[in-house]
Amino acid sequence: MVQDTYYLNNGYPMPKIGLGVYKITDEEMETAVETAIETGYRAFDTAYFYGNEQALGRALKQSGVDREDLFITSKLWNDYQGYEQTLTYFEKSLENLGTDYLDLYLIHWPCEADELFIESYKALEQLYHDGKIRAIGVCNFKPHHLERLMAETDVTPAVNQIECHPYFNQQETQDFCDKHDIAVTAWMPLMRNRGLLDHPTVVNIAERYGKTPAQIVLRWHLAHNRIIIPKSKTPERIRENFDILDFNLELTDIAEIDSLDQGARQGKDPDEVRIGTLK
Ligand SMILES: NC(=O)c1ccc[n+]([C@@H]2O[C@H](COP(=O)([O-])OP(=O)(O)OC[C@H]3O[C@@H](n4cnc5c(N)ncnc54)[C@H](OP(=O)(O)O)[C@@H]3O)[C@@H](O)[C@H]2O)c1
Repeated sequence: MVQDTYYLNNGYPMPKIGLGVYKITDEEMETAVETAIETGYRAFDTAYFYGNEQALGRALKQSGVDREDLFITSKLWNDYQGYEQTLTYFEKSLENLGTDYLDLYLIHWPCEADELFIESYKALEQLYHDGKIRAIGVCNFKPHHLERLMAETDVTPAVNQIECHPYFNQQETQDFCDKHDIAVTAWMPLMRNRGLLDHPTVVNIAERYGKTPAQIVLRWHLAHNRIIIPKSKTPERIRENFDILDFNLELTDIAEIDSLDQGARQGKDPDEVRIGTLK
């Protein structure tokens, strides 16, 4: 299977499809990663908060794939924001993953009210300049967070990873990111299989293309030039979610899925998340 690549704003290549590993347990990790690698995945999205960096690192080592052929993303947890703590917890993530650099390191939530995201990002810039991270970015940033970040720091984030699916397509943030050459990665791209994949519009389109509803939704994300990191611990689904590169959606079908947007955020509103509020 040919892997599709997104060139980030610093030219660094990032696979457009990665495996999200939130909630994948240590016991499930080996099979999930082995299946993913066999299928062709080379990108893996974890976070210090997920508590599974070590399991992911072990499974990747076991896969035998060279480190430079992998794309590993992790994230700075809210509780460790601040310049010095960022440097410390970045090193912990490296140690957990058993690697000496990350491809992408992201601030997990802005926690703007705590006033630490600028200095945390400055620590990311330092690590980036030191060659320990290939690209740096953020998660869950709205345009107003990005505006402030870009005004007060030097390196434009390469990625903004945000909740995004047909019921909540985040057009305003997408437009802002497109304008500033910030790649959007969709988290919860399948809306956690909570209703979206049974929606008649998605099911009908899937039947017409001879694809599954999940494949249609993931292809819709790619049509909007997003990177996707669907999570699955199930081998058939891991394969299914990657097998989406041999077809394109017609513009009318893309528009039909666009019309499902109802502003229905499933996760937390980033303006309400503060250090210590998420456990
Ligand atoms: N930056 C952030 O704040 C943030 C927040 C949340 C998530 N993320 C990242 O984004 C990744 C993906 O988001 P997510 O895990 O929240 O949600 P998701 O990928 O939309 O959905 C995962 C759920 O959908 C099921 N599923 C996967 N493929 C399927 C298919 N082909 N058909 C039917 N069901 C399928 C999975 O089940 P099984 O596993 O049982 O197969 C799992 O229950 C995470 O793993 C994480 O890496 C980032």
